Amino acid sequence: MAKAQKQIIAEALLDWYDRSHRELPWRVGPDDLAKGKQPDAYRVWLSEVMLQQTQVETVKPYFTKFLKLWPDVSSLAAASQDDVMKAWAGLGYYSRARNLKKCAEIVATKLGGRFPNTSKELMDLPGIGDYTAAAISAIAFNHVVPVIDGNVERVVSRLAAIATPLPKAKSEIKQIVAGSLSKDRPGDFAQAMMDLGATVCTPRNPACIVCPLREHCKVIRTGDPEHYPFKAPKRDKPLRRGAAFVAVRNDGAIYLRKRKEQGLLGGMTEVPTTNWTARIDGETGVSAAPFSASWVNIGSIRHVFTHFELELSVFRAETNDPVDELDGWWSSPSDLPEEALPTVMKKAIETAKSGATKRNKPARRQLA
Ligand code: ADE
Repeated sequence: MAKAQKQIIAEALLDWYDRSHRELPWRVGPDDLAKGKQPDAYRVWLSEVMLQQTQVETVKPYFTKFLKLWPDVSSLAAASQDDVMKAWAGLGYYSRARNLKKCAEIVATKLGGRFPNTSKELMDLPGIGDYTAAAISAIAFNHVVPVIDGNVERVVSRLAAIATPLPKAKSEIKQIVAGSLSKDRPGDFAQAMMDLGATVCTPRNPACIVCPLREHCKVIRTGDPEHYPFKAPKRDKPLRRGAAFVAVRNDGAIYLRKRKEQGLLGGMTEVPTTNWTARIDGETGVSAAPFSASWVNIGSIRHVFTHFELELSVFRAETNDPVDELDGWWSSPSDLPEEALPTVMKKAIETAKSGATKRNKPARRQLA
């Protein structure tokens, strides 16, 4: 693509962004920027970490909640880890929440409360990789750097009809974006590319008719934008199995415990579960219950993680036995919504609750 054409593309994109950008709670729009309002690096960082692997609509209420609880980096640094995990519960990829807190502590203490402004320095901080560093640097500090997420990959693959499959095409895409950047408005350019990918150049049924770049798009001429970007075939996810045990006291409280800090869902709250194993002869049944009770098999749930799919058999028991020797706690119905329960655990609890109304036979094997 010739240099002059790249410049025309940048201008067309920014004109479109001025007219059609999304209003997002973390965003300083072009009108406010023109009036001199500065983006706040804390908000940009917080939103970009939340947006890693997560849709904008899912992030909005979490972003608002976090800002209300912790309006700046020093208040987040001073928060307890448990409170941060509770506020993050349901957003997934929980290592992000642990790194968020670590990063806030470093910025608040070692860096005097200010985020660094270059991608290189930002990448030294926990939880900030290539993409997030570039996004913060461009959006919060107006540095001229290419910002490339999945939306941008799709827009550029179509624009230039890149037939190399992803992830191999990444370097070619980066070169094109780097050569097209707006020197005056790099933050808006980055956000415009992402908005275009999210609202016009969508994976299915792209709205090419209203696309500001349609005159420059090679794929429109072939008539099949949906085929782009090419992707290396995905492997099927392996299935792991396990069991979850939802113990309910007669006041409605549910027995919970904390997962160990390391590993998947580390530091989050759970109902007791077995190990999650790919073996079908593993400890996935009532024999693995954490304590003796009349466990009833209610059904099973499935949950998809990044590298595997999990099938959990859900057992429920009504019990008033004290289980003081165990290291969990009883969570009352009013406390439950505030617990740091990941979505998979909420599903297990919901299944146990809904199944409680059906009449199920107790599982044959009952622990003494
Ligand atoms: N997706 C991730 N970051 C974004 C941003 N800053 N604007 C729009 N979409 C995004």
